[in-house]
Amino acid sequence: MDIKNVERLKSRVVELNLKSAKYVTHAPIRSVDEYVKIMGITYDHGLSTLIFKTEKGFIALYRRDDRKLNSGKFKKVLNVKSLNLASPEEVKSEFGFVVGSVGVYHPKLTYYMDKSIFEKEMIYGGTGIDTEDIQIAPKDLQQLSNAQVVDVTEPAENRVNRKRILTGDRPTGKLHIGHLIGSLNNRVMLQDEYEQFLIIANIQALTDNFDNPAKVRENIVEVLCDYYAAGIDFSKSTVYIQSEVPETHEIFIYLSNFATVQQISHNPTIKTEMKQLKMEASTPLGFYMYPIHQAADILLVNADLVPVGKDQAPMVEDTRELARKFNKTYNCNILNSPEALFGAESNVPGIDGNAKMGKSLGNGIYLSDSEEELRKKINKIYTDPNRIRATDPGKVEGNVAFVYHDLFNDNLDEVEDLKSRYKLGKVGDVEVKEKLFKAMNQKLAPIRERRLSAESRKAEFLDIAIEGSKKVRVIARGIADQMKEAMMIKF
Ligand code: TRP
Repeated sequence: MDIKNVERLKSRVVELNLKSAKYVTHAPIRSVDEYVKIMGITYDHGLSTLIFKTEKGFIALYRRDDRKLNSGKFKKVLNVKSLNLASPEEVKSEFGFVVGSVGVYHPKLTYYMDKSIFEKEMIYGGTGIDTEDIQIAPKDLQQLSNAQVVDVTEPAENRVNRKRILTGDRPTGKLHIGHLIGSLNNRVMLQDEYEQFLIIANIQALTDNFDNPAKVRENIVEVLCDYYAAGIDFSKSTVYIQSEVPETHEIFIYLSNFATVQQISHNPTIKTEMKQLKMEASTPLGFYMYPIHQAADILLVNADLVPVGKDQAPMVEDTRELARKFNKTYNCNILNSPEALFGAESNVPGIDGNAKMGKSLGNGIYLSDSEEELRKKINKIYTDPNRIRATDPGKVEGNVAFVYHDLFNDNLDEVEDLKSRYKLGKVGDVEVKEKLFKAMNQKLAPIRERRLSAESRKAEFLDIAIEGSKKVRVIARGIADQMKEAMMIKF
């Protein structure tokens, strides 16, 4: 590393009074991909300084990291016949830079700047060392090196940033069809299009299970198996364990300044859970604060989208507000306000008609249930309590058997036929449930099979989640450092 280059750059920034320039320090990085992750930025905000050798000598081009060079065009502009990237040895011996952390300024080079850079307010470039970067407005960058603006790049398909998803579950039990409909199906559908992160929120699980840590630990791998069974591909989606990313707690405490006790006390999810858990008289603070902790989960990768069940809507709303307040207070744009994405149905009722399906309520149909269990549970489904004989006209609205038909039965004509006969008292529960079993089993059988095959792969899945956690930590560190910088606590 050549410290002289960095010092020269910094004194030139001062000399030219380039006010937009800021320096960002971070862990060492070796590639653009790593860089984008660490900084929590998108490729279009990253800038590479490419050094070329031509028959007329060395020249440099600033190019956005989501674009690639059209060398024919550039040759024309330069009016040269040969244009080759300088070798790492040449870059080092001629300019003192290491390829991978080439600085944005060297007095011996003539600079060109692709015009696409001007579409950005700010851009991140190298200083010449692998632990520090410069954030600068394009016009200041141009002034810095006296660069000539050229139009020589085009989009690079492999560098198009995918938007990010963060969502996940508490490992307190196996996942059921409510999770499938509410969120898992969306995650499977979106895992190609988005860069998806799935959190196993074991610390959040402890907030109301701190006296039962074994349950929380055991269920981590059960949830992983359920993800796999539902169709999550671990080579596409990053699964991770909350407790392996301690930056979560750091970001949580930074965000806490922007949440009020009053705001949490009005959070509908917290209110309901406090009632269910009979906490009103003595609510553990750890539990009370978990919406802020969950906001940290979402913001630490700067998620764009959060696919969740409707019950989580207030959590995403709180997250948005925290991000807005933080940005506003420090006049920055570090935190992204995510959107919630809800599943097909607002809520999947339990087989007993309870609005919520849950382990403690004993009313769930689980992804790991056998065919036999599925049949038994469907037979137990609560239909219309006022209907005594099959010849009595029945009610379809709110009837759990029909709610499930709507969710699982793709044969819409069959569902319509059953509904209309049910209303007229022309079909019995037995037929309704038999057809429901067929429809549900068709959807759940492949999931059940994958769930079985996952049983022997638990150790492997746990390793995958631990590896995923390392990847998430790098991203979270980048966000946390930017927040520290904004709060003036970075040294
Ligand atoms: N609160 C969620 C649940 O109970 C789990 C969770 C933790 C989560 N962190 C998250 C969901 C972040 C979405 C985003 O199911």
